Amino acid sequence: MTVDNLIMWKNSKVIFVTGKGGVGKSIVAAAIAHSLKGKKVLLVETDTYSVFDGESEKSEIIQIKNRGKISSTNLSPQSCLNATLRKFLPSKRVVKAITGNRVTRAFFDSAPSVNEFVLLEQIYEFVGSGDWDHVVVDLPATGHALTFLVVPKTLAKMMRGIGPIGKSANELSKSILDKVTTSIVSVCLPEEMPVNETIELHEALIDTLGRGLDDVILNMVNQSPTESTDTKALRDLSTEGKDDIFSEFISANQIALDWASRDENYIHELKKRLDVPQVVVPMFYEDNDLSLSKRIAAVLSN
Ligand SMILES: Nc1ncnc2c1ncn2[C@@H]1O[C@H](COP(=O)(O)OP(=O)(O)OP(=O)(O)O)[C@@H](O)[C@H]1O
Ligand SMILES: [Mg+2]
Repeated sequence: MTVDNLIMWKNSKVIFVTGKGGVGKSIVAAAIAHSLKGKKVLLVETDTYSVFDGESEKSEIIQIKNRGKISSTNLSPQSCLNATLRKFLPSKRVVKAITGNRVTRAFFDSAPSVNEFVLLEQIYEFVGSGDWDHVVVDLPATGHALTFLVVPKTLAKMMRGIGPIGKSANELSKSILDKVTTSIVSVCLPEEMPVNETIELHEALIDTLGRGLDDVILNMVNQSPTESTDTKALRDLSTEGKDDIFSEFISANQIALDWASRDENYIHELKKRLDVPQVVVPMFYEDNDLSLSKRIAAVLSN
């Protein structure tokens, strides 16, 4: 099977990238954006802080940085709240009067899911604007992805799809459920905990949202230093009693073999337990994150 058959997000409007902290979500999200060649792509980062936590003036509006075909933005809940309220209210002054009001501030602060709702509103608004072919979203760590994506469904249920927020929540919920519009990609390391968490996330998504992951990207996978035919020969080389550069080189290669075979086991484990396409991304040794994300993009578009 080619990578092409494994990549389910190619035609999706919104691609959510999730995973545990530090597994490479941000790099992979950037790589996905790079891999969508010839398309207008918006890369979205999401801040995780509360709507009203004393953010600076500049985060009150949505700022888009243009870098050729890929644009990027770091969405703060405050900027999204302003943009969402702007849709329902007649003027910026009224929006300011509401968000600057102590009573409503306290309400928004304590109301569950406001941050998630306004961020999602904005993400799907980008799609609806027609300015971008794809919006790639770098989500916060796994536990949050689930609570994040389930918010519209919960809100739509609570409000029975009535009123502007109820209707909007209903639409969002449908868009998230629709696998043509939305892909959910999880980045995972070939290690026990991340593998288990990815499986749990898939199952929890099915239980709560009614849909699971579309792809799993196994990232930072150690590659074997030799062709499989040479593996046995390398393993059998003994360095015992020798203390020279050549034996150090052999030991280093034998360690690399161990890492590669351990990672291979986790790849098999995940394949066995999870019926979701998986793409393996090797551990690369690049000088900077831009060249790393381009290297990963090449794997994704091969
Ligand atoms: N395939 C890879 N090969 C080598 N290094 C990688 C690879 N993927 C990611 N990294 C490195 O791993 C580190 C973490 O990556 P990244 O910041 O994308 O993770 P993250 O999941 O977004 O982290 P956080 O949860 O903190 O936001 C970075 O230093 C990045 O350069
Ligand atoms: Mg990150």
